[in-house]
Amino acid sequence: MRTQVAIIGGGPSGLLLSQLLNRAGIETVVLERQTRSYVLGRIRAGVLERGCTDLLRRAGCGARMDNEGIIHDGTNLSTVNGMFRVDFKARVGETVMVYGQTEVTQDLYAAQDAIGATIVHEAQNVALHDLTTDAPYVTYEKDGRSHRLDCDYVAGCDGFHGISRQSIPADRRTEYERVYPFGWLGVLSRTAPAAEELIYANHPRGFALASMRNPQLSRYYLQVPLSDKVEDWTDQAFWDELRRRLPAKVAEGMETGPSIEKSIAPLRSFVTEPMRWGRLFLVGDAAHIVPPTGAKGLNLAASDVHYLFEALQAAFGGDAAALDGYSDRALRRIWGAMRFSWWMTSILHRFPGQDDFDQKIQEAELYQLETLESAQAAMARNYTGLPY
Ligand code: APR
Ligand code: PHB
Repeated sequence: MRTQVAIIGGGPSGLLLSQLLNRAGIETVVLERQTRSYVLGRIRAGVLERGCTDLLRRAGCGARMDNEGIIHDGTNLSTVNGMFRVDFKARVGETVMVYGQTEVTQDLYAAQDAIGATIVHEAQNVALHDLTTDAPYVTYEKDGRSHRLDCDYVAGCDGFHGISRQSIPADRRTEYERVYPFGWLGVLSRTAPAAEELIYANHPRGFALASMRNPQLSRYYLQVPLSDKVEDWTDQAFWDELRRRLPAKVAEGMETGPSIEKSIAPLRSFVTEPMRWGRLFLVGDAAHIVPPTGAKGLNLAASDVHYLFEALQAAFGGDAAALDGYSDRALRRIWGAMRFSWWMTSILHRFPGQDDFDQKIQEAELYQLETLESAQAAMARNYTGLPY
């Protein structure tokens, strides 16, 4: 089998890149390790920057998002001194779209099906070959048979645990990492959201976040020690702790109910450089991971896809040099979002061993955010999305 771009991974990065390339007349084959239902079963953040929503519309996948997504003009932050709002629209003229990643992935699969894109599910033991030649190829197994896919380029969209990053020689990669000393216990419940917009809470007992998927589906998070296990937390214990960490007025009016999903996720910041090795280009979580505090994971995948799509279009149009700028261009925006996600995590969580000085610095950061328009503008600019 032969194609122009072999895409490893059928998550948001791989599907969006495949959709854009096919609509531009460039052939792709997506190789996904899991079944489609497994991919669609993942629960992920759902706050989309305008750059991401514009790209989804450009890919022909924006109709349901525009119909069902919720526009937020701002967000709330709460501390022991009370709750305040950062108005994105007033500060930087931008908004965000609340629309779950599961929905985005569903829309991408539907769009890919509509154009007859080639997606191979349950592709096992994917391996990348001859990446530094002008004739790379990919091998994989499916239904007990081995397959070879010849291609012009390979897009590594296979996430943090994928094969693509590992296909770059270790001595040619520089990896940057910060592992945070806590996790997020997340609950999804068929309950009305606690507030119209999100609430990020800095509390002496730990961070909490009140988010949502739609007017009947809420998403909540609690900072928990890394030693916690999800079975340690009954629903009642979760709701009680969440009420302790959210503003009293919000907690009093909050609707609770059975969790339909409950899990603990670790937090890390990670970047690998460069994002290119010969004819292999890394995209999304394959190259970088952000703590979810800034809701940047899917949005960074979108900007990577945007840059690589533009470069591949130019390359297939005769300008192969366009690919030379992909890694540096993507990394510039990635590090901006990496910094913001680290900053949001640093000012909102309780760190083990945090002393009184650290506490006062957090309070000072949050006070500036509450009282300085310039601080709010900087946060709003980062939260709603740095320029592409
Ligand atoms: N071969 C084929 N497919 C693979 C392999 C492999 N060796 N390893 C992983 N995959 C698949 C996974 O099953 C997954 O469906 O690659 C896909 C990678 O998808 P994501 O991990 O979602 O990464 P990405 O598409 O970059 O999307 C980033 O998704 O996980 C969230 O927080 C993340 O919001 C961010 C977004
Ligand atoms: C979510 O709704 O899952 C969500 C929202 C904002 C974040 C993180 C997660 O910063």
